[in-house]
Formats: sequence, C-alpha cells, structure tokens
Amino acid sequence: MQTKHNKIMKRLFESYKDYFRVGAAISGIILMSEEEKVEHFEKMKIRYADFKKNFKPTPEFPEFKFPEPKPLPTGRLPDYELAANQFNLVVAENECKMGSIYNGENDFDFKMADRLRDFARTNGQDMRWHTLVWHNQSPKWIFEDEKGEKVSKEVLEERLKKYIFTVGERYRDDICSVDVVNECISDKNFILRDGADRSQWFDILGPDYIDKAFFWAKEAFPKSSLVINDYNLEIVPGKRQGMYNLLKGLLERGVPVDTVGLQMHINIENPPVSEIEKTIELYGSLGLNVIVTEMEISVYPDKEQNNGKFDPRREYTPELFEQQAERYYQIFECFKKEAKAGILKDVVLWGITDRMSWKNGFPVPDRTDVPLLFDGEGKPKAAFDRLTK
Ligand code: GLA
Repeated sequence: MQTKHNKIMKRLFESYKDYFRVGAAISGIILMSEEEKVEHFEKMKIRYADFKKNFKPTPEFPEFKFPEPKPLPTGRLPDYELAANQFNLVVAENECKMGSIYNGENDFDFKMADRLRDFARTNGQDMRWHTLVWHNQSPKWIFEDEKGEKVSKEVLEERLKKYIFTVGERYRDDICSVDVVNECISDKNFILRDGADRSQWFDILGPDYIDKAFFWAKEAFPKSSLVINDYNLEIVPGKRQGMYNLLKGLLERGVPVDTVGLQMHINIENPPVSEIEKTIELYGSLGLNVIVTEMEISVYPDKEQNNGKFDPRREYTPELFEQQAERYYQIFECFKKEAKAGILKDVVLWGITDRMSWKNGFPVPDRTDVPLLFDGEGKPKAAFDRLTK
C-alpha cells in the first residue's frame, strides 16, 4: 500500500492473519462531516459542564482537573485511511455505548453506529459491539422514574431488555462479538461492583443483572460471541481471581458467556509478559476464549509503581520508541503462542494515532502520551515496524 509518506507500508492485520484478528477502536470523529464535528463539540461542552457539576472527589481524583473539550480537528484525519487498511476488525470507541444511543424510552440514535457498520462493510472488516451494560456512559434517564427518583427494578429491567433486543435486531448480522458487561468487578474487594462503587445496575437490579444480560444477549445476538470485559486483570492478581470466581459461578449456572475481554491499558514496564500469559491461560482453563479488547502501551509507569507519584511529561526519544516497540513485540509473541493454543482470538488496539488517544489527558490531565502504533501524522512508529517485520 502506498502512503503519503511515500513508502510501501505493510498491513498490520496481514502479519497476524494465521493467529488472530487485529482490530482498532475507531473514534466517531473520523467518520463525521465538518458540520457534525461542530455540533459534537457543542454537545461535549454541555456534557463537560454536567460532568463538572456532578463531580464527586475520589482518592484517585481528589480535585476536578479534567481539561475542557477542544474544538475537533478539521479535515480528513490520517486515522481514516489507517483504520480502513491496517485492521480487519473494528469497534466504536464511544458510539456504541448506551449513552450515545439510548436517549429515552423509545428514542434510539443509531446514526454513528450505522456509520461505523457501513465503514466496516465497505472495507470488508468484522465489527465488535462495545458495550451493552456498563456503570459508566449510561444515560441518566434510564435509572430514574418520571419524578426523577430511583426507578423500580421491573422498569429498569424492561428498559435494559428492550435496549439489548433493539440493538440485536439492527446489528446481529454484522457483529462478531459483543461486550455484554463491562467493568463489573470492583477494585476494592474484587467482587461485583455495587451501588456504593458507582454501579446503578447492581444497585437497582441486584447481582443477577449479569446473568440476565447474558441470557438476553444470547437471544438478541445468536451468532456473536458474548464477552465479559474488564481492566487490570493482567495486572492485579486479586482482580484476576475475582473475575475467575465470577466466571465459575456464571458457567455453573449455564450463563452463556464464552469470552473474557482483557482491556490491557498497560504501560511500558508493567505488567511482565509472564503475567499476561498467566491471565490468558487461567481463563482458558475454564474453557473460555480470551480476546484483548482495548490495548495500548503508555510510556508512563503507573503511580503505584512509582512511589504513588505520576511522572511529568517525558521526552519522546528514539530510544523510548525502541523500548516501546520491543515491548509490543514481546507481548504480541505471547499472543501468538496463546492463539496457537486455541485460547486467544482477537487483539484490538484502543485507537490508531497517538494524537487521538484517550491517554492524552488521562490519568494526568495536562500530560500527553504516545501509546499507539502511529504518530500524530499517521506515520508508523518503531512499534509498527517491529510488529510487521
Ligand atoms: C474503558 C472503557 C472504554 C473507554 C476507556 C477509556 O476502558 O471500556 O470504553 O472508555 O475506558 O477511553
């Protein structure tokens, strides 16, 4: 493939075609017209104001320091061509979350989800759905009755069921795998995240909301694999075990979960490859498949590894990019091994170019990061070269 950088570029997914699909999360921004970008920016400002108004300090974020939304980049972004050519699997970064779609009782906005589906069809790619049930980015109305009070269990259950079936009816033939439940394990005690831990789903529906969501998803998406997705499973052994315990119970009750999604928002030092391997094999031992759903490699250590402190912005030297490339390579070698063992099925990166990564500004509001395979202009980085060699 010829790029504007005037060199023949390899295709990432082709390098792994005998092992697993290679996917990317696509930001809706790359699929928007210029007018839609302006409208979207206006919406983001409203959401930001709302988020700021409702912000409650946590030990991790004691103060509100999140950067204000910026106007969206204009023109066709390099991510567009790369998304079309480098990956054989796509997922929406935000556009298939409940908060982007379910605006009211009978009010669904599928505009951007349809657009991504059309993009995938045009480019002959498979598509994942992220996500059906999550404590974040759910619409506020869904948990409230007409007086603005907590809705009853029956009503919330009906709303969730309707959502799952409406989405399934529209997309079931295009979706190869669905994140049915996202981030349901608590970081505090490694059991189900409850109301005190920000899950209004658990709070109102009780612990069996997970079983129900999977049974409904099985009917709504009969051909898709059904995923339970979470972060830090490869990093925190207690959380890994907590997910294992949950899965054992689900399987004993005949709940149709078949795949564990490891988000893998990891960094240049942590976790060791051996922990990643151990995690994949642990879930494999339950007879489940594993997919990597949201990977990137930040160039900053976690504050837990760093005397509780975040590092300031680093200098992005060629050595740093080489180190990152080596780390991507070692981890992809482990993925190949686990794919050969029949456990690992897909690897999805959480974005395409560094410029668009959510890690710019997270977890440190005014610090940039360079965690992906392409730089801000869409030029392949050392990690891309290493993975496609
Ligand atoms: C979590 C979610 C994703 C996304 C990232 C941050 O991992 O599962 O949908 O919001 O956080 O971008």
